[in-house]
Amino acid sequence: MAKMWAGRTSGETDRIADDFNSSIRFDSRMYRQDILGSIAHAAMLARRGIIGEGEGETLIAGLQGILADLESGALAFDMSCEDIHMFVEQELTNRIGDTGKRLHTARSRNDQVALDLRMYLRDEIGEIQPAICSLIEALCSRAAEYRATIMPGYTHLQRAQPITFGHHLMAYAMMLLRDRDRLADCCARMNGGSPIGCCALAGTTYDTDRRGEAADLGFSDICRNSLDGVSDRDFCLELMSDLSILMMHLSRFSEELILWSSWEFKFIELPEAYTTGSSIMPQKKNPDMAELIRGKTGRVYGDLMALLTTLKGLPLAYNKDMQEDKEAVFDAVDTVKMCLFVMTPMIAGMKANADRMKQAAQGGFINATDLADYLVKKGMPFRSAYKISGELVALCLREGKVLETLPLATYKTFSDLFEEDLYTDIDLTTCVEKRISEGGTSIASVDAQIAYVKEQLG
Ligand code: ARG
Repeated sequence: MAKMWAGRTSGETDRIADDFNSSIRFDSRMYRQDILGSIAHAAMLARRGIIGEGEGETLIAGLQGILADLESGALAFDMSCEDIHMFVEQELTNRIGDTGKRLHTARSRNDQVALDLRMYLRDEIGEIQPAICSLIEALCSRAAEYRATIMPGYTHLQRAQPITFGHHLMAYAMMLLRDRDRLADCCARMNGGSPIGCCALAGTTYDTDRRGEAADLGFSDICRNSLDGVSDRDFCLELMSDLSILMMHLSRFSEELILWSSWEFKFIELPEAYTTGSSIMPQKKNPDMAELIRGKTGRVYGDLMALLTTLKGLPLAYNKDMQEDKEAVFDAVDTVKMCLFVMTPMIAGMKANADRMKQAAQGGFINATDLADYLVKKGMPFRSAYKISGELVALCLREGKVLETLPLATYKTFSDLFEEDLYTDIDLTTCVEKRISEGGTSIASVDAQIAYVKEQLG
């Protein structure tokens, strides 16, 4: 079909080239932002007397009609259009005649697409943030439930010290809280620069009102350099960086869910609705959803790397390469939302196996630090206490015993400082309860963490 930009050239391009060039397949999802942007633009043009008042009204009514019809399904996208911007303008001109051709005064698709994308992504952030909050809420309520459930805490995936399951879950709540706040920062920066009015690259000779138009569209400021406004996509990169960090957190958590639900650990059971069976091994209950979240993390990192790479050698200002921004950032946003929507009910329905956790906590000498601390309390320097505690662990290992049941007489052969009260100090419940330092694993501390996170959620 003949192009809207036909003029210098005939506008006749090869069909394969057309398909290659076109972005309507993926940018049609920004129709709402595109139309709202155009309505604000028409209003600004009329306000400034760049077009007639009546013309402004006609444009706005036409655009509102298109928006309503797209939303009701009465109007379908014309996939032969090059992009969403061309489609809306073509449809407008079909509906209201030549006045439609006035809309594109004092703007270009270069500033238009930069505007649409910012508006679209801030709306998406508005959906991702509450999804993160729901997951945080699920974590808080599960943590409250398991605030006294003892499990081994690990370093190097070796049993290290006793903690509660609630404490472990709250670690993820803290990470996700920062993820939410990072997105808020990103959104504020995205909103801090309206590109509309930068036009093709150099601004315009018309007496436009960029600030008024930006304010109408909910921006707090405008891009102060027109070349920058049409050519940078750092807001996409920033969002994808934030989403990559979020996915990294979800992936680590998924990895733990996968480990914990294995027969080797059996710490948790995932709800059946979020696991699958094997087609040939009847005994299996596979944590597919957690694995997919872990797997999709690579995909979101890939989206970020793809756009970073696309942009790295581009001269100012707009280059068609930049059309590649959308598929990457849309994919990242869609993927993150899906992962959050699956993760939240999976966590809400997960069951912990407190007995198994306790058993594992008892088996790994994870109270050895507390045994050393006991001697320190009685006056021994930590380094010497550490050595004795280590020797006692070695003795237990040789003789197939645990610290809790080793007789006091044996303890006495290592140090006179040992008394009957050592058994209370190395009891796992005491070990957890003694960790009262702020942010530690004691029940009171976990409760304080939950209260803090809930307050942050508002
Ligand atoms: N579809 C284009 C994109 O996504 C819109 C901007 C086109 N501008 C241009 N000068 N060809 O980037």
